[in-house]
Amino acid sequence: MKFFLDSAKADEIRYARDMWNVDGVTSNPRHVRNSGKPFLVAICEIAQLFEGTDKPISVEVNPHHTVADAMVEEGLKLAAMSPNFVVKIPATEAGFKALWTLHDKGIRVNLTLVFSAAQALQAARLGATFVSPFIGWKEANGEEVSHMVAEIVRIYRNYNFKTQVLVAAVRNARQIVEAAVAGADIVTAGFDVYKDAFDHPYTAKGLKIFTDSWDATPYE
Ligand code: E4P
Repeated sequence: MKFFLDSAKADEIRYARDMWNVDGVTSNPRHVRNSGKPFLVAICEIAQLFEGTDKPISVEVNPHHTVADAMVEEGLKLAAMSPNFVVKIPATEAGFKALWTLHDKGIRVNLTLVFSAAQALQAARLGATFVSPFIGWKEANGEEVSHMVAEIVRIYRNYNFKTQVLVAAVRNARQIVEAAVAGADIVTAGFDVYKDAFDHPYTAKGLKIFTDSWDATPYE
């Protein structure tokens, strides 16, 4: 399973690239706002960090767009800016139409704000490269989520869809593991979620025992 970083902050992305070998980045309007930079500056910085690689960077179209044509027009501009950019489109009716159109033009789309297997099925039918079920938002609402991810994976296998399941809004290590058990292709999570997930208190505890033992043992 691949790990994408869910962020638009260049320092976090650089760290995740150099220390964790992340496989890609997902951004959204909230992440871009949190970067403190203008939209174009933030996304161009991310593109530079992955120049010369084939790692995908999802960039979301203006969320005010309500018609497919506007999403397609902006999607084409974004895709022309960097070969790494994947156009992120919301799972609205206009969004599905825009996905279909962009796919026909050879543009990769990440269908975002997906909350059901039926939406994921339609995304795959219309040619999405990635589909992003937001599990954290559903779980925060008291809904069970691993079943939905498993259903999407199963449906894609049943019909041999190539769309990759990109489990999004991941909040903790348990959700990462649940996504992997369900067979997701990718998870995208924030910087602190990975920092926490890659650590375990017993590792530090064990290392202390081993360093103490090392210090108490002659080398030769
Ligand atoms: C995914 O691509 C989204 O950017 C992301 O996971 C949204 O959720 P969050 O910002 O609430 O974590």
